[in-house]
Amino acid sequence: MRASHIVILTGAGVSAESGLGTFRDTDGLWTKYDIADVATPEGYAKNPKLVLDFYNARRANCRAAPPNAAHEAIARLQREYPGRVTLVTQNIDDLHERGGSRQVIHMHGQILQALCAECGHQWGWTGMMELDDICHSCATLGAVRPDVVWFGEMPYHMEAIWARIAECDLFAAIGTSGAVYPAAGFVSDAQHRGARTLEINLEPSDNAACFDECRLGPASETVPMWVEGLLGDG
Ligand code: OAD
Repeated sequence: MRASHIVILTGAGVSAESGLGTFRDTDGLWTKYDIADVATPEGYAKNPKLVLDFYNARRANCRAAPPNAAHEAIARLQREYPGRVTLVTQNIDDLHERGGSRQVIHMHGQILQALCAECGHQWGWTGMMELDDICHSCATLGAVRPDVVWFGEMPYHMEAIWARIAECDLFAAIGTSGAVYPAAGFVSDAQHRGARTLEINLEPSDNAACFDECRLGPASETVPMWVEGLLGDG
């Protein structure tokens, strides 16, 4: 039976073939950097320059990377599927948007946005971020940080995401290791609500056993095939 509402959760694997590194694969970012140093509020308090430089490099990489066939297929599904398609991503890049998706829920924030740690203002940011940047709203000096969620901070849009998961009848996780909560728990939340669950990944993830079905292979091939099947032209 055709699902009336599909929730898709994506992770770094969907952008890997665009040239953006994943976190936990053998050459992933977390093999080169310590999470505590570059992705926590404590790391930022200790060495803000190191953290800004880390995200300056992520931002530059993101801007140079093209969307791939997986991003484009997900956008096509959002446009053409006769039911509802909710796209939640843990990725901070904008490749879903550049691949054609209009509605993207960025639960871990966005690298192309700045956040003022003083007043909470969020605005677009495409260049390098420096220690002496000034908030565009409250003009505080030195409170500008990347608008990304660090470990120990609450991911964005959680109420909206849980509401969508509660009413979906198909949940698909694409290119995510299932190692980071709350996203890693979405499959169980969806299953408890009676949804069918599907993992699409290069290899079985940490919580592959939680899914009803698993499709293995590079996202640029597996995702377009999955979408063609859903749209009835595969
Ligand atoms: P990970 O690096 O933990 O996992 C990437 C997943 O993508 C792995 O399961 C790979 O097998 C899979 N993968 C790699 N290449 C692929 C390909 N071409 N096609 C399909 N799958 C592929 O990345 P995430 O699960 O996204 O959070 O990580 C979750 C969070 O941990 C990130 O959002 C980030 C990180 O720390 C924060 O920084 C808060």
